[in-house]
Amino acid sequence: MKGSQGDGKAGENVPDRRRMLNRRIWVTGASSGIGRSLAIELAHCGARLAISGRDAARLAEVARDCAGDVLVLPMDVSQREDNQMAAQQLERHFGALDSVVLNAGICEYVDLPAFDAVSITRVMNVNFNGLVYGVEAALPLLRRGVAPHLVGMSSTVAFVALPRAEAYGSSKAAIRYLLQSLRVDLLPQKIDVSIICPGFVKTPLTDLNDFPMPMRITAESAALSIRRGMERRQHEISFPKRFSVVMSVLGALPSRLRTKLLRSLSRSTAA
Ligand SMILES: NC(=O)c1ccc[n+]([C@@H]2O[C@H](COP(=O)([O-])OP(=O)(O)OC[C@H]3O[C@@H](n4cnc5c(N)ncnc54)[C@H](OP(=O)(O)O)[C@@H]3O)[C@@H](O)[C@H]2O)c1
Repeated sequence: MKGSQGDGKAGENVPDRRRMLNRRIWVTGASSGIGRSLAIELAHCGARLAISGRDAARLAEVARDCAGDVLVLPMDVSQREDNQMAAQQLERHFGALDSVVLNAGICEYVDLPAFDAVSITRVMNVNFNGLVYGVEAALPLLRRGVAPHLVGMSSTVAFVALPRAEAYGSSKAAIRYLLQSLRVDLLPQKIDVSIICPGFVKTPLTDLNDFPMPMRITAESAALSIRRGMERRQHEISFPKRFSVVMSVLGALPSRLRTKLLRSLSRSTAA
């Protein structure tokens, strides 16, 4: 039925101020995967976009796929100065930001007995510090934006501590906590905060996984869920629904039972 919640046309059932048309949106990690599909989805809904990632050539391709006026900002999110410089360019180009989607991220697994602090801090540096620097750079621009919206990429892994996810899961749990805290503190400034928590999405990141990924969806489907969740200003944009319920239930189990269950899934060979 036209206009029902499920049919996905841009802007339907969405208050005017929250539609994507002409919104000035910065998406990080837009050179591939979920960020790329989200940039294309938002561009098709009439947003004015700035896209970031390290690979300038791939960003230029995404900008072409967006088929609109897209500002390409190559940068390394884990460098505070890169974020500050991006903010200056965003200010010059747009004057302000209406939404920011801090999506850039990497994944590395911990395989005991090798507990590699370098790997863990590398993941924290890109995923968590990168998002922190992005928030710092974007907030002054969001304060001058229209119905401002801060959106950050966590994961359903933040709902339950999974084996081998000491690095990746910790970074995503830290992001979720940070954004939940910020949501409260930004309320008086009328800046909404949404946290994206996907299950498995088919992207170059998950293509490296060598284990079964139940309920894996496409990046296009993920982008649609994120765009709809952004329009509704959902606090937590988690999908696919059944997968996020399973992860929440696992996270709520008594610790001993959960540990036993997860141990049976773990491939760790550590004693
Ligand atoms: N795929 C999933 O199942 C899944 C599930 C939950 C959450 N997520 C999260 O979703 C986000 C996107 O992941 P994806 O699956 O779409 O993976 P992806 O295809 O590998 O995309 C990752 C993006 O992050 C960018 N990036 C990585 N390190 C960066 C850095 N230091 N500076 C700037 N940009 C950087 C990459 O661009 P460059 O290589 O050009 O720098 C790329 O555009 C990540 O935060 C990931 O943790 C993914």
